[in-house]
Amino acid sequence: MKIVVVGSGGREHALAAVLGRDAEVVVTPGNPAIEGSVSTSVDDLVAAGDVDLVVFGPEQPLVAGHADRLRAKGVRVFGPGLEGARLEGSKAYMKMILEEARLPTAKWESFTGDRLDDALSYLATMKPPYVIKTDGLAAGKGVLVTDSLSEAELDVRAKLEGGSFGDAGQRVVIEEGLSGPEVSVFAVCDGQRAVCLPAAQDFKRVGDGDSGPNTGGMGAWSPLPFIPEGFEAEVNKKFIEPTLAELRQRGIDYRGCIYAGFMLTEDGPKLLEYNVRFGDPDSQVVLMRMTSSLSELLAAAADGDLTKVAAPTFSNEAAVLVVAASENYPIAPRIGDVIEGIDAAREVPGVTVLGAGVGQRDGHLATAGGRVLNVIAIGEDTSKARELAYEAISKISWPGEHHRSDIAAASV
Ligand code: AMP
Ligand code: GLY
Repeated sequence: MKIVVVGSGGREHALAAVLGRDAEVVVTPGNPAIEGSVSTSVDDLVAAGDVDLVVFGPEQPLVAGHADRLRAKGVRVFGPGLEGARLEGSKAYMKMILEEARLPTAKWESFTGDRLDDALSYLATMKPPYVIKTDGLAAGKGVLVTDSLSEAELDVRAKLEGGSFGDAGQRVVIEEGLSGPEVSVFAVCDGQRAVCLPAAQDFKRVGDGDSGPNTGGMGAWSPLPFIPEGFEAEVNKKFIEPTLAELRQRGIDYRGCIYAGFMLTEDGPKLLEYNVRFGDPDSQVVLMRMTSSLSELLAAAADGDLTKVAAPTFSNEAAVLVVAASENYPIAPRIGDVIEGIDAAREVPGVTVLGAGVGQRDGHLATAGGRVLNVIAIGEDTSKARELAYEAISKISWPGEHHRSDIAAASV
């Protein structure tokens, strides 16, 4: 099978590595750390023939309708079309689908710019923490969670009056603040059915002990010892299947990944958000534990028939991922620093080093983004995997490199 993966980060590197176990994989545009990266566009690759499957990594091309465009040319695609991708492209749309399907989620309302007074009145009825979200894609920066009502009011004003996120900021969702551990579940969907992969957890704050600003994710681990047996199957039955049914009623044949972000509250799991792609970096620890064929699974989903493959299987071993970030990430990441020590890190047993924000300088790999490398270790249990991941990351350096030291630590 020949597969084209679209994207350029750590998630796409992981997809290429796991798909590449039994398929020929090219990644467009990829990055210099990913073998098989090509600058040829996905359209040109498809036009050149013999592509069996296109897998979209990030949400932007999906929200822009590229999966539909390729499917219309007869290409087999893993990734929802424009309508399905609205689950991530508009938080108000996602919340409406959750409401129609009667799924547990935080209480909410959405407001457009002409309803500033109503938005502020609604906010005043909420209890802290106040949660304000820009409606559209905002590269992970559109969410404010704060205990301060005045900060929340300023944020609502800035978003609705100032258009701080351009089009994405013209509508906001204000919702009830929830608390509890967060977990990610990735559901591979064929339009009617889904299989949920083992849950993972992402560490979103930049600093140890969940301190400092939010990031795209500073580390991840799977399996999670604190979730009940059968959690993923329950998620499938109670959340994903009803969501697919709701989408089908609207004429949406969703073939791709639904990334369900949950908060495990005292009243049970509540859905924080849906994304329309695999998580980055949280899916990587799951994909690396997979022992059955990912390429066959995604191809079956893209064909609309998951019944033709057996349920996916996963190693009992643990995976821990630590992100090595560039100086000043996430505020103003510095790029262009030469990366040292990747080869030594890769020699640590059970370790894979994936390139996320990686470019080239003078023929060397160099930092090209905030989250630069993802160091993943597989070990017999979490503590072993953690030890190996930290041993490996200690060998990697560039000026200003930083990472969390408490990913998957017992105390988290
Ligand atoms: P989102 O982009 O919706 O995932 O939000 C980003 C982060 O904000 C989440 O990972 C949570 O940590 C936090 N968050 C989102 N919604 C809520 C909520 N209703 N209550 C508390 N925290 C939230
Ligand atoms: N790790 C969070 C995300 O992929 O959205």
